[in-house]
Amino acid sequence: MSDVAVVTGAAGGIGEAAARRLAASGARCVLVDRDPRVEDVAAAIGGEAVVGDVTDPEVSQRAVVAAGDRLDLLVLNAGTNSVDKDPATLDLGRYQAVVGVNQHSVVYGLRAALPVMRRQGGGSIVVTASFASLRGVEQDPIYTMTKHAVIGLVRALSGPLAREHIRFSAVCPGLVDTPLTAAGRDRFRAAGISMLTAAEVAASVEQLLRTGEPGTELVLHAGRAPAPYVVAPIP
Ligand SMILES: NC(=O)c1ccc[n+]([C@@H]2O[C@H](COP(=O)([O-])OP(=O)(O)OC[C@H]3O[C@@H](n4cnc5c(N)ncnc54)[C@H](O)[C@@H]3O)[C@@H](O)[C@H]2O)c1
Repeated sequence: MSDVAVVTGAAGGIGEAAARRLAASGARCVLVDRDPRVEDVAAAIGGEAVVGDVTDPEVSQRAVVAAGDRLDLLVLNAGTNSVDKDPATLDLGRYQAVVGVNQHSVVYGLRAALPVMRRQGGGSIVVTASFASLRGVEQDPIYTMTKHAVIGLVRALSGPLAREHIRFSAVCPGLVDTPLTAAGRDRFRAAGISMLTAAEVAASVEQLLRTGEPGTELVLHAGRAPAPYVVAPIP
C-alpha cells in the first residue's frame, strides 16, 4: 500500500520540492496552499490540491479528509517572514497573519492529523523550522519568535508521540533559495552567502519522515552535511 502524504505550503519553494520528492517515491500527496498555483503542482505530480489559508483550522481538516482513510506523512511547512521589525510600530493584522501561519497552523495541522495517525497506529510528521528556531535573528524578531515556538512544540511533543509510533521532527534550514528569499538573492550572492536549494531541504524532510530519530532538529547549512542540533542538558 502506498503512503499518503499531506504537505502544506506546497505551491512553491520547499513545500513543492517536498511534495515532488514524496510523489516520486510513490506517495499519494495532498498539497495545501492559499496560492491557487498549488493546483498546477498537484496536477503535475498526480496529487490533489486543497486551496485555502492554513490560519483557518478548517483548511487542515479539509486536507486530512482529502487524504482519505490513511495519513502516513505530514509536512507542516507553510510559513512566511515578517516585514515588521519593531513591536512599537507593529501592524496587528500582519502580525496575527504571520503568527497564524508559522505557529498556529502547525497546531491546527496536528489537531487534524493526529486522530487518523493514532487510529492507524503511527505516522511521521516534519515541521519546517529554521535557524531562527535556534538563535535570535535580529532582522526578523517576530519570525524568530514563531519558529522558536514551533521547535518548543517539537521538543515537548516528540517524546509522547514517539511512544505512539508517531515521529515528530523538524528541519532547521539556513537561507534557502525559494520565492520567499528571491528578493534578497542577488544581495546574498554579492555578500558571498550561499543558499541551500529547496531540493536539498526536501531530501532532509524525506529522510526525517522515513528514518529520522523522533525529536530531531536537523540543522541544514549550505555546503555542509545535515547535522542534528544538540540541546545543552539542563540539570
Ligand atoms: N527560504 C528560506 O530561506 C527559509 C529558511 C528557513 C526556513 N524556511 C521556512 O520554510 C518554509 C517554506 O518556505 P519557502 O522558503 O519554501 O517559502 P515560499 O514562500 O516559497 O513557500 C511558502 C508557501 O507557503 C504558502 N503560504 C504562506 N502563508 C500561507 C497561509 N496562510 N496559508 C496557506 N499557505 C500559505 C505560500 O503561498 C507559499 O507557497 C516556511 O515555513 C519558512 O519559514 C525558509
